[in-house]
Amino acid sequence: MTSVTVKPDRVKKLLNQYPWLYADEIAEIRGEAQPGEIVELVQARGDFIALAFFNPGSHIAARILSYDRAEKINRAFFEKRLTRAMARRIGAVINTNAMRLVHGEADQLPGLIVDRFADVLVVQFRNAGVEQFRKEIAQALKKCFSASGAYERSDTQAREEEGLEPRVGLLYGEVPEEIEIYEDDVRLLVSPQVGQKTGFYLDQRDNRRLLRGMMGPGSRLLDVFSYTGGFSLHAAKAGAHALAVDKDQIALQQLERNAGINGVSALVGARWGDAEKVLDQLAREKRTFTHIVLDPPTLAKHKNDVPFAKGLFTRLTSSALQLLEPNGVYLLSTCAYHIGVNDLIEAARIAANDLARRVEVLTVTYQPADHPWVLQIPESLYLKTLALRVE
Ligand SMILES: C[S@@+](CC[C@H](N)C(=O)[O-])C[C@H]1O[C@@H](n2cnc3c(N)ncnc32)[C@H](O)[C@@H]1O
Repeated sequence: MTSVTVKPDRVKKLLNQYPWLYADEIAEIRGEAQPGEIVELVQARGDFIALAFFNPGSHIAARILSYDRAEKINRAFFEKRLTRAMARRIGAVINTNAMRLVHGEADQLPGLIVDRFADVLVVQFRNAGVEQFRKEIAQALKKCFSASGAYERSDTQAREEEGLEPRVGLLYGEVPEEIEIYEDDVRLLVSPQVGQKTGFYLDQRDNRRLLRGMMGPGSRLLDVFSYTGGFSLHAAKAGAHALAVDKDQIALQQLERNAGINGVSALVGARWGDAEKVLDQLAREKRTFTHIVLDPPTLAKHKNDVPFAKGLFTRLTSSALQLLEPNGVYLLSTCAYHIGVNDLIEAARIAANDLARRVEVLTVTYQPADHPWVLQIPESLYLKTLALRVE
């Protein structure tokens, strides 16, 4: 097996459970390894550190799989890890038949994402390592997670950096075009083939419930970056009116059908378009809302994008607050690892100060339990949300 010697000052982070070794942290490579092969990471004197997926073409050159030198990386290994991921989630997610079953590095399965939607799995292989073991992983999934079929959505940008082509299609079994899931009493249609990412944003489940708890008949929600309307539908089920805004027309069509199957079409409206422009339009129309949620896509994929993203958060918040009634509730979310809670706080403070509105922080939330956050892997915390009351 190829062995990769780690620069001395980088050894400790790996021994402390941080799973990534960057290309410039390698002192020496002994042997040759193809993208996705298993290598041994060792210290300068040869002491074993871990077994890892290797990709010489990626800036993350190695991703740790196991600290046990004797571990065989095969189908049985993946079955063990999947069983552990399943055990971790017992009792963690309730009143739904949809959840994230595998969350990559946080489940010690670097680059593997698996979501369950009712009877169907949607799977992403995000790096050369899991790609190499695709067959073994598919077999292990079949054995560990009962499902009528699995659909592959390996069309993430992450694969590009790994030198991998996108791949989308049936992994095994049967997968319908549309699956119905439920979150509490809300029914939601999910399209694994044409939806964004794996088909549905499971990670906002707790926030949808949080906001719903603050609404009732008479509330009016503005659901900005709505996708298929998760927040809007929960609001409507509480008796509130909701207006959803998104630039994805297919998602808004699904939102309308979602409203239909929930019997709340009269309460849910949709506007297609760019969020900033629609917020301006709504201001011109003098519309107001009691609750606003802003859940944009990843606005900062790299550290360098943070200043731009913060500027956009400030502008969007400023527009949103102008539409918010006194004592209204505002939820501001980021799914970008590079944007922290303090960045959200700063953006909200600047916007609120400009409008001379006093803001109380109701709570700060993080991603739900089926998207684990491991303390030693800062990158595993990505979703942060501020819930604010704006006087
Ligand atoms: C993180 S998802 C929202 C998930 C949603 N809140 C939910 O609970 O399912 C971000 C959404 O923003 C939309 N989007 C991206 N850029 C946009 C823009 N400039 N204007 C409006 N919508 C946009 C995407 O189509 C996507 O549906």
